[in-house]
Amino acid sequence: MWAAAERVLHQNWRQGHREVDGVPYAFTCPATPRYRHQWYWDSCFHAIAWRHLDPARARAELQTLVRAGRLDGFIPHTAFWVTPAYWRRAPFYGTHTVFGATATSTIQTPLIALAWELVAAASSDDPGFARAGLPQLRLHYDWLERERDPDGDGLLTIIHPDESGLDDSPKYDEVFGWMRHFRPGYFWLVERCRRLSYDAAAIVERYEEHVEDVLVNVFYALSLRALARLDPDRGAVYATRAQRTEAALLARCYDERTGLFFDLAGRSERQVRVSTWSSLAPLALSSMPDDVRVRLVEDHLLHPRRYLVRCGIPSVALEEPSFKAGFALWKCWRGPSWVNTAWLLAAPLRELGYDDEAERIVRSLLIAADRHGLREYYNPISGHGLAARAFGFSTLLIDLLAQSGVAMREPSAVRRMI
Ligand code: GLC
Repeated sequence: MWAAAERVLHQNWRQGHREVDGVPYAFTCPATPRYRHQWYWDSCFHAIAWRHLDPARARAELQTLVRAGRLDGFIPHTAFWVTPAYWRRAPFYGTHTVFGATATSTIQTPLIALAWELVAAASSDDPGFARAGLPQLRLHYDWLERERDPDGDGLLTIIHPDESGLDDSPKYDEVFGWMRHFRPGYFWLVERCRRLSYDAAAIVERYEEHVEDVLVNVFYALSLRALARLDPDRGAVYATRAQRTEAALLARCYDERTGLFFDLAGRSERQVRVSTWSSLAPLALSSMPDDVRVRLVEDHLLHPRRYLVRCGIPSVALEEPSFKAGFALWKCWRGPSWVNTAWLLAAPLRELGYDDEAERIVRSLLIAADRHGLREYYNPISGHGLAARAFGFSTLLIDLLAQSGVAMREPSAVRRMI
């Protein structure tokens, strides 16, 4: 697995200078030929895997991601380093112009501070890395708080389903309606955001299609906690913000009846009652009450009609009518198991004493990856590998191995194998 992960990360590594302005870049693209650019959350996951193999590359990947952003602290969902995005990509990507954009104007689940802390911990060869990132990380998390929490309740809002990374998740079906993925209105949703300059406050004021997303906010809170630990001067500010977000998740998104966390949609902030892995994500927040976390595990994660499957953790509960285990073109978050889900939830499972269950989930993905390669996602029922091959963030499996105490082989032995 270590050798396979190293092979994928090397194969997908891209390094050079942007043609339009000579800005240097170094990042891992998720998979060729389909995903050739730099994606925000993919890059964070890549860096978390790279830190075990080559911490300098992990650092370069995160620094490139920051460089893709703006001076005001915005960091894009996708950066087009190699070739700018023109009108042909405009209907699909949230760019501000159709005449050549170097990045989108949309965001993606903002976990860079969490990744930064993990990479810094593996950077004994560059002890200044943790502090060097602080000015930009502060700007980024301050931008998110200022621009993406228009009602000031501590929960970030997304204005497009892709902004969570869970593009076609059934939890967005009802919210975005005819503008969701694979519907003609999708292009209008992108165009509408463009016309309003991706200004979340303006969009929230005029329209109903926006979400305070549980997964986005769980990663936001985890990242604020990481930033609080990294920042010796403003740490208390970020810790307070994390607390606010966690409290808002519990007070507003938790549904006592089902024991799940649901997104809040539209101006009325109605709970979207669809059970997806996002509903389980608050398990990763150690500030959540133990009984709430245990219920997520016992009533859902380990429930045979919900999330207990042969391979990994499915992206949607089995009993949801929208659940679909196998491959459907472009549809990816409607059932299949992804490695980043197990990555988020294995550690809290162990923390709560479910060591065997965490081990079983990780092992099932290792077996699937061994048989079918590091694929984009896996059929949760059969374990078959699906969609893209040599997929970058499935290399998170080596981080999961490291967490299980399985050390990396001698690097030289790995190199001989590849
Ligand atoms: C798909 C996934 C998204 C990911 C992107 C690049 O759009 O839904 O989560 O960031 O591919 O891998």
